[in-house]
Amino acid sequence: MILVSGGSQGIGRSLVETLAATGRETVFTYHSGSQRARQVEAATEGRARGFPLDLRDPDGPDALLTTLHDEGICVRHLVNNAGVSHSGLLAMTSDQDLERVLQVNLMGSFRLMRAVIPHMLRLRGGSMVNVVSLATLRAMPGQGAYAASKAGLLAMTRTLAREMGRKRIRVNAVAPGFLPTGMTSGLKPEEVKALRRHECLPDGVSMTSVVGAILFLLSDDAASVTGQCLVIDAGASL
Ligand SMILES: NC(=O)c1ccc[n+]([C@@H]2O[C@H](COP(=O)([O-])OP(=O)(O)OC[C@H]3O[C@@H](n4cnc5c(N)ncnc54)[C@H](OP(=O)(O)O)[C@@H]3O)[C@@H](O)[C@H]2O)c1
Repeated sequence: MILVSGGSQGIGRSLVETLAATGRETVFTYHSGSQRARQVEAATEGRARGFPLDLRDPDGPDALLTTLHDEGICVRHLVNNAGVSHSGLLAMTSDQDLERVLQVNLMGSFRLMRAVIPHMLRLRGGSMVNVVSLATLRAMPGQGAYAASKAGLLAMTRTLAREMGRKRIRVNAVAPGFLPTGMTSGLKPEEVKALRRHECLPDGVSMTSVVGAILFLLSDDAASVTGQCLVIDAGASL
């Protein structure tokens, strides 16, 4: 089974719906969007099932995996997609702002990876894909707290890939550039322009490219790929 965190909207929702369209069964998590989660279940005609999860809750990931285990669901693939952003210059960032972003993007994603490992060991293999960000590669003013959380997750991706490789568990990341979703809907036009300034390709980053990259890294086509970060940024990092 494939577990996608944050499947109620944005990248996670597109991924879940693409998986369902190709006949793959999925479980996904939602936080505030229970109604959106029900819409995803309906749109996928029951191939995808949503479960509540608040990644700020230290017990949330273990409790979720226990629930899935009790339902006879064993997780072979994890996509750590759920995340939150924070905009603000580092000099103006409070401890609470930084902690909130780290709690969800780093601590929560870490706990989810740790919680699925026993499932993957039982299945004698598995793969994880962590959704990080172009902000881990390029310094982006106002994105310091967010970049720190994603850079931590990228470091864990590489370490876990080395630690779990012998058990046939692959761990990779994707780093998308700017993509219009709920997360970026509050940005002002000039902020979007600044984020896209370095893109080489005129059409920018597409949802299809991001979802396609995740699907590739999950698949057997990527059987020899681990510890890597696939950058999907329309050339912005060049
Ligand atoms: N959009 C971009 O430009 C961009 C670029 C680079 C990387 N990313 C990364 O891509 C991933 C998906 O982002 P998106 O753009 O699709 O954002 P989005 O549309 O805002 O979706 C975020 C998802 O995370 C879930 N979530 C938020 N807070 C949570 C919490 N406390 N506990 C558990 N789940 C929580 C949301 O659930 P509910 O809706 O149910 O609350 C939602 O499903 C994120 O990790 C983001 O950092 C995005």
